[in-house]
Amino acid sequence: MNKTELLQEAIQIRERAYVPYSNFPVGAALLTKSGKLYTGVNIENAAYPVTCCAERVAIFKAISQGETDFSEMAVAADTKRVASPCGACRQVMSEFFAQDMKIHLTNLNGDSKTVTMEELLPFSFTQHDLFEK
Ligand code: THU
Repeated sequence: MNKTELLQEAIQIRERAYVPYSNFPVGAALLTKSGKLYTGVNIENAAYPVTCCAERVAIFKAISQGETDFSEMAVAADTKRVASPCGACRQVMSEFFAQDMKIHLTNLNGDSKTVTMEELLPFSFTQHDLFEK
């Protein structure tokens, strides 16, 4: 699957978002190194903070299926600039993605931007900080 196809998966899956409160659907598509695709959408809740973002839904689906090796991710939202993952999602991404992994961000106007994990969350807190003294 190439970058354009992955972006398209993220755009398409947005339709499944459960967003009665924000009406702001987000779609994510996560590709494993073995070529499997895990999609995610944001799932909101009447208790607002319980909401889970699209990126984390995709990552948690993949991890719960035993996946650990990821090659690329795409995120799509109807924004003026390209989609920008929230801080919590960046932290979760940094737990599972290599520093040089590519994340493709897009909107519905056809704009796209590719960033690395390192660019998305520089100087991140990791397990090395916990265990290495
Ligand atoms: N949201 C995501 O799903 N991903 C992001 O990268 C940014 C925010 C969701 C959370 C909430 O359902 C809605 O967008 C508005 O914040």
